[in-house]
Amino acid sequence: STTYRIAVIAGDGIGKEVTPVAQAVLDKVCADEAKFIYEPFDLGAERYLRDGAILPEDELERIKSMDAILLGAIGDPRIKAGILERGLLLKLRFALDQYVNLRPSKLYEGVTSPLAQPGDIDFVVVREGTEGLYCGAGGAVRRNTPAEVATEVSINTAYGVERVVRYAFDLAMKRRKHITLVHKKNVLVNAGDMWQRIVDRVGEEYPEVSHDYLHIDAATIFMVSKPSRFDVILTDNLFGDILTDEAGAVVGGVGYSASGNINASNEYPSMFEPIHGSAPDIAGQSIANPTAAVLSAAMLLRHLGFDAAAGRIDAAVEADIAQLGPTQRSTEQVGRDILARL
Ligand code: IPM
Ligand code: MN
Repeated sequence: STTYRIAVIAGDGIGKEVTPVAQAVLDKVCADEAKFIYEPFDLGAERYLRDGAILPEDELERIKSMDAILLGAIGDPRIKAGILERGLLLKLRFALDQYVNLRPSKLYEGVTSPLAQPGDIDFVVVREGTEGLYCGAGGAVRRNTPAEVATEVSINTAYGVERVVRYAFDLAMKRRKHITLVHKKNVLVNAGDMWQRIVDRVGEEYPEVSHDYLHIDAATIFMVSKPSRFDVILTDNLFGDILTDEAGAVVGGVGYSASGNINASNEYPSMFEPIHGSAPDIAGQSIANPTAAVLSAAMLLRHLGFDAAAGRIDAAVEADIAQLGPTQRSTEQVGRDILARL
């Protein structure tokens, strides 16, 4: 069997509790086909508070040599907003050119949606991961004066948009063959127009895939009024950030939401993480639900080509939620229950 080296950044809070469960699931489901060698990286709030390091260059280089990355959660209320987000999480996404931020949403049997009539919810958001307002372009002048001007520039390149658009069309071919482009092209006329033209042009190569368009404000309404209309949602970095939190809420909370930060050209490792944060309010009590971390491990396997094994995890999680979803269980117990089904 092939050996894979996985960087493990468990991070902070409940990240440390749920990540070992994901690793145990990976080891069991693939025992005959693959061997995973985990390399832990001590990155996150505690490391930063201890020695001021956020993502040292040599550690980034070592991460670059891995086959994939499993990330738990990063964040701590003691640290000023933006430091770890920009310096660690976004730094990894950008340095590893993880241009597809893949975020599936599915309403599982046994989970209560806050919507009265949710219908069949099963869509994937393909969020661009390396451009837009997240680039860090911009600045502030005359700070702290009445004449202050602060800018953030949204950068959208034809190259960057086309590669994520192609990813979305390829993904749609494996699903229900429908793409919804979400933007704000009535106001953001430069980037919006470019996104639409590229979708139209690439779409001609995929005659079986239909595509439509929604402004972001309308998309947030459809997300709660008729989420079953979505199959693949394709959007930029910031709209995708907002829409995926809303998506997590309509499928019963981000506790079941996994994500992949994917470098689809495989030049650098891809990174898989639950959408939820470090949840300092419940950290240390072994009550965090590891389901999203386990589903992230399934995405990691799919990325490495182990589709069947990933499907076994998805099925085990689905059965676990359907039968035991609402029961109070410890993090370890949920792990044991899922493992027992594999
Ligand atoms: C997410 C998070 C991050 C983002 C933050 C923590 C930088 O909200 O993964 O969605 O905005 O992408
Ligand atoms: Mn977010």
